Amino acid sequence: MQFKIGVFDSGVGGLSVVQAIQKALPELEIIYKDDAEHVPYGIRSIEEIHSFVKPIFRDFIDEGCKVIVIACNTVTTNLADKLRAEFHVPMVGMEPAIQPAAAASKTGVIAVCATPRTLSSKRYKWLKEQFAKGVKVLEPDCSDWTQMIENNRVDREKIAKIVDDICEAGADQIVLGCTHYHWIEQQIKDLTKGRAKVIQPEAPVIAQLKRVLKEL
Ligand code: DGL
Repeated sequence: MQFKIGVFDSGVGGLSVVQAIQKALPELEIIYKDDAEHVPYGIRSIEEIHSFVKPIFRDFIDEGCKVIVIACNTVTTNLADKLRAEFHVPMVGMEPAIQPAAAASKTGVIAVCATPRTLSSKRYKWLKEQFAKGVKVLEPDCSDWTQMIENNRVDREKIAKIVDDICEAGADQIVLGCTHYHWIEQQIKDLTKGRAKVIQPEAPVIAQLKRVLKEL
């Protein structure tokens, strides 16, 4: 499949997704765009994020991208519907993997690590109502994780405390609901000391991308 696709995130989070796409679909031409000037998005208003993202998506289309991967949970959960209506190009989004986490949980407790704007989105609330009925969903404060990762200054102690707290509270599934956190996935896995499984949506997103490309 010799297509050109666009991949977007506010910052370095989406690069982890690019890596995964390149591994699975090496023949694709990938144009990656971020928004270094405005990252982090997760603490901004929806209107502000929309105004930043719109011209970037326009550029993807002008540059001939046949599909856009929104490698950002914050943009997907708040703006995917709007962007799909504005730009007539298939989009593959990324959102917190609540469904598999809730289905796999034996303790009935899961944790979702995501940005404040993702956690406050209607789509996230819908996902919880739809797929995590009767499951306790912990939402630890990860509001400064994007910046830590952008600046390559990960505070191990801080992350360790959060991971420990959620494991102690009984969570046996930890959802990485922000692509920036994929860069510290191994660290988080190590910190769980086998108490919880760490889930992120790269594999289903690639499967969805393959389906979309087949239909082009
Ligand atoms: N990587 C993004 C996400 O998946 C956004 C992080 C941010 O800019 O705050 O939500």
